[in-house]
Amino acid sequence: MTGIQELLLSRIREIEDHPEPGVRFKDITPLLADPEAFAALTDALADIAVRTGATKIVGLEARGFILGAPAAVRAGIGFIPVRKAGKLPGATLRQAYDLEYGSAEIEVHAEDLSAGDRVLVVDDVLATGGTAEASIQLVRRAGAEVAGLAVLMELAFLQGRARLEPALAGAPLTAL
Ligand code: PRP
Repeated sequence: MTGIQELLLSRIREIEDHPEPGVRFKDITPLLADPEAFAALTDALADIAVRTGATKIVGLEARGFILGAPAAVRAGIGFIPVRKAGKLPGATLRQAYDLEYGSAEIEVHAEDLSAGDRVLVVDDVLATGGTAEASIQLVRRAGAEVAGLAVLMELAFLQGRARLEPALAGAPLTAL
């Protein structure tokens, strides 16, 4: 493990049985409260954006906003929020995806992405990959290219990486 990985991991707190029994929640609030760790994470995400030639960062509600927005500022590119359905005021593209029980929908402002954009999708956690997959589909439907997906944590036992392979189509997935 590298020094930055050790730093980031040491600032993630595990909470047993949240939000329901049997789930061990990964709480990133200690990391956000530590300026050194948050800056290191922001720099690492901005580096990925620059390296992949991203012209925009798309952050996924809600924690993808917190991580993606400062990285976009640091990389000198725009930040675009992907929100849960019904929150964005303008004309949107909407994408449904399956949850363990039921389904959900996310949206992006249609005018925020267009052909010529290269998008780095940023979120805190990759779990089953459903949210990231739907976001990648939204980016493509908007006519933009996917530069990659970057997350702080990957819960490898849920095999999101394998699920995302077709959607990513060779674009890099980085779990810091
Ligand atoms: C969590 C997490 C990711 C997503 C990962 O968000 O922040 O966005 O789930 O899960 P998946 O890979 O199985 O799709 P959550 O839905 O809890 O929303 P929130 O950040 O608004 O609380």
